[in-house]
Amino acid sequence: MQRDNQQQPTVFVIFGAGGDLTWRKLVPALYNLYLNGDLPERLAVVGVDSKELSDQAFRRRLREGVDQFSRRGKVEGQTWPAFAARFNYLGGDFAAPQTGTALGNCLQKFDQEWGVEANRIFYLAIPPAQVEIAATQLAELGLCKDCHRDRLVVEKPFGHDLDSARALDRTLTGMFSEAQIFRIDHYLGKETVQNILAFRFANALFEPIWDRRYIDHVQITVAEKVGVGHRGGYYEHAGALRDMVQNHLLQILCLIAMEAPVSFAADEIRNKKVDVLRAIHPIRPEKVHHFAVRGQYGQGRSGGLDVPGYRQEKGVGPESCTETFAALRLFIDNWRWQGVPFYLRTGKRLADKVSQVSILFRPVPHQSFPATAVENWQPNRLVIRIQPEEGITLRIQAKQPGTRLLLGPVDMKFCYRDAFRATTPEAYETLLLDVMRGDATLFMRADQVETAWSLIAPVLDSWQAVPPGDFPDYAPGSWGPEAAAALLSQDGRNWFAPVPGDDNDEAIDDASGVR
Ligand code: BG6
Repeated sequence: MQRDNQQQPTVFVIFGAGGDLTWRKLVPALYNLYLNGDLPERLAVVGVDSKELSDQAFRRRLREGVDQFSRRGKVEGQTWPAFAARFNYLGGDFAAPQTGTALGNCLQKFDQEWGVEANRIFYLAIPPAQVEIAATQLAELGLCKDCHRDRLVVEKPFGHDLDSARALDRTLTGMFSEAQIFRIDHYLGKETVQNILAFRFANALFEPIWDRRYIDHVQITVAEKVGVGHRGGYYEHAGALRDMVQNHLLQILCLIAMEAPVSFAADEIRNKKVDVLRAIHPIRPEKVHHFAVRGQYGQGRSGGLDVPGYRQEKGVGPESCTETFAALRLFIDNWRWQGVPFYLRTGKRLADKVSQVSILFRPVPHQSFPATAVENWQPNRLVIRIQPEEGITLRIQAKQPGTRLLLGPVDMKFCYRDAFRATTPEAYETLLLDVMRGDATLFMRADQVETAWSLIAPVLDSWQAVPPGDFPDYAPGSWGPEAAAALLSQDGRNWFAPVPGDDNDEAIDDASGVR
């Protein structure tokens, strides 16, 4: 990993500075990095967006965002003025050459002021359709041409399908070197997601049993309680498979399934991850219904409130066939994982906001205890809790206290908050710092993105070709459509109820909690 670049004078340009991402995520993340002393001393931020706005008004709006969304709560003491002074606003259309020229002058002004050629980071926090336009402007004006110092950050979704992702890659790599392109998947910046690598490869205990001989199956759940809210316009053209599975869930799967890397060099990790994607058994078009389930939430109640169905959300058509839930059963064709199903599910308006990976181990080969002792017996389960309450739980069997021989499950828990007594950084803090350092380990390479698209392509095509007959098919506050349960029950399995991270959380009994 390169760590030497971090303190270089840097100009951070945000295209789409008036948007939600800047307001909710990017600036609160920069503010927290600032409080930690992690930002370069000479850092300027230039926000570009179409609206005319003064620097002052821009800064005021950013402060509201920090007050609302910073993990540390409201702006601390007297820290704001010095932080905000780094922010500048440039109003204009990205596609217009005069905006590019004004930006170029602004960048030059910083170089002259500082007496150095500063690193330049161009963060494209803009809708996918505008990415190519903005990138082409930057290339034509020569603003992002130094392949060591200038970087381009591209938000997901990276393309809409395999063809458009390839076309975008061709365009971008025709203008910039691959080393300059940072494709963000914010899940990879989450602390527990990164900890999967530490857990697997810094401990000798688990790796020997991390394969088909000991593991029965793996479940990856990324559930959200919220609906699509004001993002209906975007989501209508995306759906759960594009929005979450193609990127976040498949990236988590890669970290669980990858082989041990030789080093922590960015390309070594990315090579090992892409090997997993390439080994996933392709879903044949005529078999999609055996391996994939979709769903859409209807109206109902969630969190004690009446909530609209997806089709009633703003920007969504009344007969929309877009899926707000997706589940997949995948197999990895290699020596380690042959025959082990990986079940993935994600959805909006589900029962809880929770992201967990559950690894179920095989039963003991011989049960020596009397049948009466093991009525409650369960195989070992390892749960990696990505959010909330980040940590790891290992479910083992223990003798219950008492004179009778009775076994029951107990949990060994590691909780980040208790173990380290420190708040964990937001994913965007980690990722922005990595961009400044020029470390691409946690970013997606073109081949990863394209392989992920090609994996889900048959499902997208089949769902597009055959409209769902039964949408909406799940109630808000549930765990998705019936068909998702059937995807596992046909294999004699169940989805696990999320394991609570905190002892104060309501305990969920597995036998009844499985949905
Ligand atoms: C984004 C998706 O990538 O991830 C959103 O576009 C989703 O639809 C979000 O809500 C979930 O992220 P997190 O970090 O809140 O789990």
